[in-house]
Formats: sequence, structure tokens, C-alpha cells
Amino acid sequence: MDSNQTQWGSTAWHLLSLVRAQTPLIQCITNFVSMDIVANTLLSAGASPAMLHAVEELRDFTPGVHALYVNVGTLSPSWLPAMTTAAQICNTHRTPWVLDPVAANASAFRFEACRELLRLKPTVVRGNASEIIALSLDSAEPNSSASKGVDSVHESTTAVEAAKLLARTSGAIVAVSGATDIVTDGNRVVGAHNGVAMMQKVTATGCSVTALIAAFVAVDKTHALDAAVSALAVFGVAAELGMKMAKGPASLRMHLIDALYGLDEAALHSHVNITSLS
Ligand SMILES: *[C@@H]1O[C@H](CO)[C@@H](O)[C@H](O)[C@H]1NC(C)=O
Ligand SMILES: *[C@@H]1O[C@H](CO)[C@@H](O)[C@H](O)[C@H]1NC(C)=O
Ligand SMILES: *[C@@H]1O[C@H](CO)[C@@H](O)[C@H](O)[C@H]1NC(C)=O
Ligand SMILES: *[C@@H]1O[C@H](CO)[C@@H](O)[C@H](O)[C@H]1NC(C)=O
Repeated sequence: MDSNQTQWGSTAWHLLSLVRAQTPLIQCITNFVSMDIVANTLLSAGASPAMLHAVEELRDFTPGVHALYVNVGTLSPSWLPAMTTAAQICNTHRTPWVLDPVAANASAFRFEACRELLRLKPTVVRGNASEIIALSLDSAEPNSSASKGVDSVHESTTAVEAAKLLARTSGAIVAVSGATDIVTDGNRVVGAHNGVAMMQKVTATGCSVTALIAAFVAVDKTHALDAAVSALAVFGVAAELGMKMAKGPASLRMHLIDALYGLDEAALHSHVNITSLS
């Protein structure tokens, strides 16, 4: 094992240990489909989830959270003000917050909501290639080379360029999920290779790993790129360990959560697969 992997293993273990020791309070404004697995992912990692979204509660509650997670998966007009208000409160209190722009380009309403949320400076944005490309094209100059990439949504090189562009224009760390997860601050690009294909058959695993990123940035907001990479790797390793016992998607969901709960330093070190891509 090369020294780089050893170092990433140590970083990921350190951050997971901090989450377990500090039990950061993570407010989640997330979609109906994901609420259960997001809360259980955070609990099994050692964090404390709070699933509240009434705008009337935010002034009292949000100033005390350690990170906020916003996910637009089942967006509605009444939820958007809660998302933007909670993000603004976090910005006032220098609390990190993380955005999951689910199906960003599914409708004009959703796209505009994602743009508005991006303007509120999330610490990390995590999406799949289509979501990140759609948002990055919007942020690109109309005639730049980046704005010509719509046709190659599945080409990973395009996703890397889109992620770098979005990171630069938004100021966020940008993570793109795929066979290899890509994380960038606009300059540095890191690949996180852990995980199993069966995760795509379990709903809301993407939502769950974004919530885990929120828990990791909650304990180290000054190194958000390392925190995002580590959370992706930890979740991916838990999926690999869980897959050894799973018979299909339903049992993978259960065993992944168990593996995350029981993950120890030796297993994390021996499975972690993170490489520098630039
Ligand atoms: C990204 O996620 C959205 C929402 O789930 C989905 O419609 C889209 O096909 C996904 N794109 C890729 C490249 O996986
Ligand atoms: C976003 O959606 C619109 C309307 O369906 C479509 O014309 C456009 O190509 C999409 N953009 C991307 C980047 O997928
Ligand atoms: C983009 O390119 C088109 C066609 O070459 C040109 O008409 C338009 O003025 C350009 N727009 C900008 C903002 O440069
Ligand atoms: C790490 O991931 C890469 C890309 O998927 C793969 O080629 C390589 O074999 C993996 N390394 C280990 C040690 O699993």
C-alpha cells in the first residue's frame, strides 16, 4: 500500500473518530424518500440528525446546529424559503452547509431554486454528473468551451471540467458521484474509488452520503475537500463491507448501515482507495 493511501486512511479515520466523539448536530432539510436512510446513516456514523424544516423553527434551532444539509429531491414552493433561510442563518454563524441538487435540471422551478441556493455559498455541493454539468453550464460564460459539453454528460472528463468550473464560480467544494467519485476545489482533483454498483439499486444512497459529508465538514470545516473525500470513502467502504453479506438491495441497505456503525481503523485502512487526479 502506498503512503498516499495510508495518509488518506488516517485522515478518514481521524474525521470519522471526531464525528463519533463529538456527535455533531446535523440539520437535514431533505426529501421525503430519503429521510429514514439519511437519519440512520448519520446515527450509525455517530452524528445526531435533526429532520426539521418549518421556517417558523429555524431562528430558534438552526443557530445551534454544527452543519446543515439541504436536498431539493422533493422540492415544493413552501420548502424553498426554509432552505434559503436556514442557509443564510448558517452563513451568519459560519456554520458549514452542504447542498444536494437532486435532478437540478428537471424543471425550471427546481433549476432556479438550485441557482438561488448556490448563491448562498454552500461549503460542499454533491451531485451526479448530469446535475453538476447542468449547474456548471449555467455558471459558464455563454461561449466558453464548458458550455458546449451538454452532449457528453456521461464522459468523466467532462464531469471533471464541469466540477472544476462550478467549484471556481461558486466557491464550493464540488463532488461528483459516479463509478469513481470526483472531488475538487477548482484546482486540486481527488478521486474516491470505493463503493459497489448495487448502491444504485438502493434509493437515497446519494442523499445519505451527502448527509455524511455534512457530518464530516461539521467536525473540520477548514478542510472541506478532505472531509468530503473522506466521507465518500467511508461510505463506499461500508458499502463494500456490507455487500459481502448482502443478498440484494434491501439487505445491502441494512448491512451498509451496520458496517458504517462497526467500521474500525484496520478495515478502513485496508479498503480505502483514494487517488490524486491532478
Ligand atoms: C442523476 O440523478 C438524476 C436524479 O436521480 C437522474 O435523473 C439522472 O439520470 C442521474 N444522472 C446520472 C448521470 O446518473
Ligand atoms: C436542461 O433542461 C432543458 C429543458 O428540458 C434542456 O433543453 C437542456 O438541454 C438541459 N440542460 C442540460 C445541461 O442537461
Ligand atoms: C456567442 O457566439 C455567438 C455566435 O458566434 C455570437 O453571436 C454571440 O454574440 C456570442 N456571445 C457572447 C456573449 O460572446
Ligand atoms: C482503486 O481503484 C482503481 C480505480 O477503480 C482500481 O483500478 C484499483 O485497482 C483500486 N485499487 C485497490 C487497491 O483496490
